[in-house]
Amino acid sequence: MTKGILLLHGPNLNLLGTRQPEVYGRMTLEDINAAAARHLASYDVELRTAQSNHEGALIDRLHEARAWAHGVVFNPGAYTHTSVALRDAIVATELPVIEVHISNVHGREAFRRESLLAGVCLGQIAGFGAFSYLLALDALLRRWDMLRD
Ligand code: DQA
Repeated sequence: MTKGILLLHGPNLNLLGTRQPEVYGRMTLEDINAAAARHLASYDVELRTAQSNHEGALIDRLHEARAWAHGVVFNPGAYTHTSVALRDAIVATELPVIEVHISNVHGREAFRRESLLAGVCLGQIAGFGAFSYLLALDALLRRWDMLRD
């Protein structure tokens, strides 16, 4: 059965490529989405991608995902550190959600060390640049026993 994955990007990630490249690298959001699609090309997976700078729109995407997705890879950006509403939405999806960060949030400002979301996610992957997303996709594939070595 085809598995659906939502790759969801939060605030300011539309600026990837030009936003603090020393922290977030030079890949654009389009590059990352394309790399994710390539990564999944040989698997029976439907990938949908979305980005929003608005908390409510991200919540809407998570709600919609209940109807078609089997897992979510989510970089919530700064909402990671602030949003009880996104935490509740993640719980409401009843889907495995993997929290992803490009930078190592644990090695930066103290406020970035706290995630209100990670505790209700399957896990958190942070610090591997754009490769963090591919690791998260592999985590879902492995969970579904689909990952090939
Ligand atoms: C980020 C880390 C967050 O703390 C920050 O607010 C972001 C990007 C990351 O991918 O490293 O916007 O989620």
